Amino acid sequence: MPHACQICGGALEEFLDLGRQPLSDAFLSEHDPQDEFFYRLAVGACSSCTMVQLVEQVPREKMFHTDYPYYSSGSSVMREHFQQTARALLDTAGPDPFVVEIGSNDGVLLRTVHEAGARHLGFEPSGKVAAAAMEHGVRVRNEFFDAGTAADTRREEGAADVIFAANTICHIPYMRSVLDGIRTLLAPEGVFVFEDPYFGDIVAKTSFDQIYDEHFYFFTARSVQAMVAPFGLELVDVERLPVHGGEVRYTVARAGARTPSAGVAALIADEKARGLAEPPTLRRFAADTARIRDDLRTLLRRLRDEGHRVVGYGATAKSATVTNFAGIGPDLIEFVCDTTPAKQGRLTPGAHIPVRPAEAFADPYPDYALLFAWNHADEITAKEQGFRAAGGKWIRYVPDVHVS
Ligand code: SAH
Ligand code: TYD
Ligand code: ZN
Repeated sequence: MPHACQICGGALEEFLDLGRQPLSDAFLSEHDPQDEFFYRLAVGACSSCTMVQLVEQVPREKMFHTDYPYYSSGSSVMREHFQQTARALLDTAGPDPFVVEIGSNDGVLLRTVHEAGARHLGFEPSGKVAAAAMEHGVRVRNEFFDAGTAADTRREEGAADVIFAANTICHIPYMRSVLDGIRTLLAPEGVFVFEDPYFGDIVAKTSFDQIYDEHFYFFTARSVQAMVAPFGLELVDVERLPVHGGEVRYTVARAGARTPSAGVAALIADEKARGLAEPPTLRRFAADTARIRDDLRTLLRRLRDEGHRVVGYGATAKSATVTNFAGIGPDLIEFVCDTTPAKQGRLTPGAHIPVRPAEAFADPYPDYALLFAWNHADEITAKEQGFRAAGGKWIRYVPDVHVS
């Protein structure tokens, strides 16, 4: 029995198996590495609606809970990105808008909305990041957004003029419930705007590390258009974004409320011309992924055998996929440095590499640094110029393994 598409029920064709993997954000105590939860990380494409998705689901409470350790405000580039996004959403909304965010995390976007004096509400199931937003005066419902909580909000607070989500809609397998909730909560002329890693960029860069438990869907304009249509919704605009290695911002409205921009048809035509989400492309992606894994493992083993010090930079969720797929542990990487207090002093999931504070990086500098947070490369290399000056070298594995 093939697995079924969570969007349309069609048959999923599996094209990549990344093996037994832990939860990507489940950092362990150094003293007491508890029992870890593992699942099979594999990806398929729907033969009917083309949606690329994981074949196995992890229960949402295992991923998003009180101690969820990802804080969106950890990158200055992302803080700036979301300040600009908030201003743009407010500029294009009508007077006195009600702005709802799904996955508001530590308030990186809603802080700006709040400071502008606009009515707003964040949905954020993860307790500590939700509390961080509330400390800045942001209104948060510490709950999962779905059909039920959306209906509660509609009843209690009225319709939303803007529903925004960044790096969250792709995290939600129960999409039919979410879109049902959007249909209930969205004002007649309102917009639902969401941005997520773009499958077109993932394939172009072979960034297979974008695949992990939390990233359930890998969107294209074509699959998003098909996904929203049964809910009386229409994809009316797409915008490519440079953040997180390449994303698309999708604007969705009630069907007929807005005229779709020419960009929508253009991006879908481009996806069709590339054969994105079609078997030959997906087979090539899987082969490129295996090659990168082999090249990275070979390089790290050689560096170890030559006696070099190698550390990781950024204890990203993405790095769980890379380390566990490639068998990279503390024998190859001394530690991973990261600015997030909730990750420091802990061990990375599955691979059990110690996580140290950012200051450990220069104390003293290693010979090589494996850039796990490659999506923040400009920000990181700008602030770590001392590393290169001291003779250090960066190792990257996107779009292929190289040292610079
Ligand atoms: N928007 C932020 C956070 C992305 S991380 C950013 O772009 O940086 C994804 C967030 O979505 C997490 O904080 C997680 O707790 C939250 N989340 C997961 N499922 C959700 C749901 N059903 N409703 C609302 N938030 C959800
Ligand atoms: P990110 O790539 O944004 O997301 P994900 O975990 O979903 O893959 O994570 C970036 C991580 O890198 C986060 O733990 C913070 C850390 N980081 C640093 O340590 N230093 C930095 O300068 C930046 C930008 C991030
Ligand atoms: Zn489907």
